[in-house]
Amino acid sequence: MLEDAEPSIDWDALTFSFKQTDRMYLATCKQGDKWQPGQMQDFADLSMSPAAGVLNYGQGLFEGMKAQHAADGSIVLFRPNLNASRMQGGARRLGIPPVPERMFLDAVHAAVRENSRWVPPMGKGALYVRPLLLGSGAILGVAPAPEYTFLVYVSPVGPYFKGGIKPISLKVSDEFHRAAPGGSGGVKAIGNYAPGMIPSKMAKSEGYAEVIYLDAVHHRYVEEVGAANFFCVRDGVISTPELTGTILPGVTRASVIEIASSRGYEVREERIEVDYALDADECFCAGTAAVVASIGSIEHSGRVVEYGGGEVGPITMEMYEALTAIQQRRASDEFGWTVAVE
Ligand code: PLP
Ligand code: COI
Repeated sequence: MLEDAEPSIDWDALTFSFKQTDRMYLATCKQGDKWQPGQMQDFADLSMSPAAGVLNYGQGLFEGMKAQHAADGSIVLFRPNLNASRMQGGARRLGIPPVPERMFLDAVHAAVRENSRWVPPMGKGALYVRPLLLGSGAILGVAPAPEYTFLVYVSPVGPYFKGGIKPISLKVSDEFHRAAPGGSGGVKAIGNYAPGMIPSKMAKSEGYAEVIYLDAVHHRYVEEVGAANFFCVRDGVISTPELTGTILPGVTRASVIEIASSRGYEVREERIEVDYALDADECFCAGTAAVVASIGSIEHSGRVVEYGGGEVGPITMEMYEALTAIQQRRASDEFGWTVAVE
């Protein structure tokens, strides 16, 4: 069901915030059963037991991807199969029956197709696609819930960081950590995000856009920027923290690594000492919501380092351009990463 009417929305004023759309996908599965395809329905509140596993013990995962109008007139998704497999990995970690990849992709396509009037014009934002996988059955003991809900809703969004392409200021947190070894930092567990709200709010109240988290063992190696992966460039070499299990394996991170390598850059996945990052020539962060966002300054223990004199660094700009050109099919999709929603 393709809706045609233009929503009354100022596409130029979009921010990264929730806007209710028309339709959503919903499926349920009992523990021990196999997932059966769900259905599209009108966007609606959920009803579940107060004893639902997700409400009591945070047994839940989410994903995030974007659908965009592309230069060839189609609506495209970017590497949604990677979101499907990342959610399967998260499901295994949290004792949730993994949603089959085909079902995940069908749900995402249907949710975009049936909300296509909410996809912003090219270059004005994107339709953010939010799959959720939740323990919706009632359980009192701390154990996997007896029933699960998989749903996909969508919302049109604008830039994640205020100011668009303008380089952001970040603060290294000496007080908080995002994830510890053996925990759930490497999967997109919903419970990973509430503990980051106050650190982020505190940084914002001091004028920073976000916090940079260091590793929880040595308090020395850069892990992530809020909800995006970190990159720095020194003497033309691009470095990003290696995936140690405490860092979310970002789809954008993987794509930047592949784009940069294909252009002849040396890309290192390694431990990055915070001092190495502070002495870098350029820094940026990468994520679905953040895209590629230039970092203009970092504060750590009273030391403030500025990069690029307020300008976006050349390699950051190259990565932003190359990535968004592929995502919007303005350049040839040499890796075969975009998928049209029919
Ligand atoms: N790191 C965290 C903690 C995130 O929540 C996200 C967002 O999904 C990312 C990194 C970037 O991942 P991706 O590029 O797959 O959006
Ligand atoms: C994403 O990039 O999809 C994210 O996860 C950011 C989100 C937490 C707002």
